[in-house]
Amino acid sequence: MQVLENISLKPYNTFGIDVKARYFAELYSDNDIAEFYSSLTPERIPVLILGGGSNVLFTKDFEGSVACIRSKGIVKLMDDEQHVYLKIAAGEVWDDVVKYAVEHGWGGIENLSMIPGSAGAGPVQNIGAYGVEFKDVLYSVEVADVISRHYRSFRPADCEFGYRGSIFKTREKNRFVINSICLKLDKQPVLKLDYGDIRKELVNAGIRDVTISSVRDIIIKIRSRKLPDPAIMGNAGSFFMNPVISADEYDRLITAYPLMPTFRSGEAIKVPGAWLIEQCGFKGKRFGDAGVHEHQPLVLINYGNATGEEILALAEKIIKSVKKKFGITLGKEVNIF
Ligand code: EPU
Repeated sequence: MQVLENISLKPYNTFGIDVKARYFAELYSDNDIAEFYSSLTPERIPVLILGGGSNVLFTKDFEGSVACIRSKGIVKLMDDEQHVYLKIAAGEVWDDVVKYAVEHGWGGIENLSMIPGSAGAGPVQNIGAYGVEFKDVLYSVEVADVISRHYRSFRPADCEFGYRGSIFKTREKNRFVINSICLKLDKQPVLKLDYGDIRKELVNAGIRDVTISSVRDIIIKIRSRKLPDPAIMGNAGSFFMNPVISADEYDRLITAYPLMPTFRSGEAIKVPGAWLIEQCGFKGKRFGDAGVHEHQPLVLINYGNATGEEILALAEKIIKSVKKKFGITLGKEVNIF
């Protein structure tokens, strides 16, 4: 394990923001993680653990240590009649895990195809798409506690999962390093096709015998059409969350905007942030090298040399505009540093 100094983080965040980390290390194993933490001196703190760097926006140099988790490995721990339990190292690329599961015919995460980032970021963000959330397939998360220096296992009920959040992002942010996750997948997959246009897309593609493999293919198709590839255009997926509104707010808004789309998630009423941003006229707009994506306005773009501050300024402008027009405050999904 090597600690480097004054390293550009441009290759390590999908927004492609060029800031420096005072200290930087790539950690390939649990041993590396342990060694890294025992080498920490006060000037090397704070520590930021990065997975795929697909949910961060850097607005300035990071004056502590940035560590990238690079551990690899997918192991079948056990199985029974219905389920298979996979242990996955935190540094695995999430979509490689989805591909592996689908190739083996194990269901549960096919709807989470093509989400950028690492497996270890799954529980932090409670990643979600097309009607499935990470918490639905999780069996356990294995972590190192950087305070007590002990290893611990979290079951889903301990993770305080919420919409794009968990204990690892909120109450205990920075306390635990995720070493691996264990997923519980179905040997007899149950297809989840009710979200948005999935069924319609399958019909359009002429697919009758729907399998997890065809679901993965269709989702990759939808995502490639709507969401920009970070390798081509810097972005961090949805920059904002879809706001949850109260029943009173709903009544007020639907009277003023009868065409406002909404969807229910449990008791909560959500409004698509994409619609709110579009109504405020930001869809496809560009301000220098910072912009709003032309197909999915929840996504902010770095067209080349935008700074993190420019992206953040655009985000604040959008938040202000949505607040003024609709009285709704958009929350950020991306972590700002
Ligand atoms: N919409 C517009 N204008 C647009 C695009 C969308 O008004 O230009 C409205 C439409 O009413 C559409 C609705 O927004 O029906 C929802 O759009 P979409 O299905 O694209 O999904 P989303 O709610 O905007 C969420 C996640 C995505 C995830 C998709 C698919 C959040 C913050 N985002 O987006 O996750 O891929 O659903 O499940 O929950 C991410 O977290 O980084 C991410 C990309």
